[in-house]
Amino acid sequence: MSATILDGRKVSREIEEEIKSEVDALKAKNKKAPHLAAILVGDDGASQTYVNNKIKACKRVGFEYTLLNFPTTISESKLMTEIERINADEDIDGLIVQLPLPDHISASKVTDRILPHKDVDGFTNENYGRITSKHPGLLPATPFGIVELLKRYKVDIKGKHCVMVGNSRTVGAPMSSIMAYHENATVTVCHIHTVDLAHYTKQADILIVATGKPALITGDMVKEGVAVVDVGITRIPTEDNERGYILSGDVNFEEVEKKASFITPVPGGVGPMTIASLLMNTLKAATTKST
Ligand code: GUN
Repeated sequence: MSATILDGRKVSREIEEEIKSEVDALKAKNKKAPHLAAILVGDDGASQTYVNNKIKACKRVGFEYTLLNFPTTISESKLMTEIERINADEDIDGLIVQLPLPDHISASKVTDRILPHKDVDGFTNENYGRITSKHPGLLPATPFGIVELLKRYKVDIKGKHCVMVGNSRTVGAPMSSIMAYHENATVTVCHIHTVDLAHYTKQADILIVATGKPALITGDMVKEGVAVVDVGITRIPTEDNERGYILSGDVNFEEVEKKASFITPVPGGVGPMTIASLLMNTLKAATTKST
């Protein structure tokens, strides 16, 4: 079997076209464009790339944007003050703080200070808790993007067995809740400490992997016809190219692709969909001020 590629770049471009039309319609009614603010602390190369990609996406769809770059030495309390300032700024609809943060700053404390209706990454305790409520707030961007990608490729989710490998607060935990509560999948949550991981992954109709362990999932760990979503993206140092690194997902693509019905590439799968979700959440935050 040769797998259909779940092309996050292509789908995110389609979503951007849809968002741009809505932004154009807002502007035609003399309403302001949605405004996203992004906070970046320090000079980590990968984080800079991710934030720049988010800003470029804002430009493509006609959003306003503000990028605030603070030195690694910024204190937690100063960062909190900046967040309070943006919370109070009526012109800004959405705020993200790029993770990871330096060790002296608590990521959970900082992200939880963002007003829930501006929390377009969906990281606050309130938005996290509301995933399972009848009235969800802003959904976590990466899981939201994954569901959108699966739906646009008409991957059957309802009643299927979704095996989530990874229990992080940003991806694994909210992803498994969304699959179980919003999409009516049957969900098994595994992680890097799971004994006999292959026992579970072999049962997956949909396998979502977010561990940060390059090539953890090999061909012998999946069944024929599985739909595979690889959230991992690790920079592996190399002297073979000018950038000095290659990107690896958590799935051995060459082996697993031969058995899968659908599979995301790395890069070009989940990453662009996270950005598309961020844009969708920012548009929602701007147009429904009272989520
Ligand atoms: N670091 C890695 N992924 C993400 C993400 O989706 N949002 C933020 N803010 N930081 C990240």
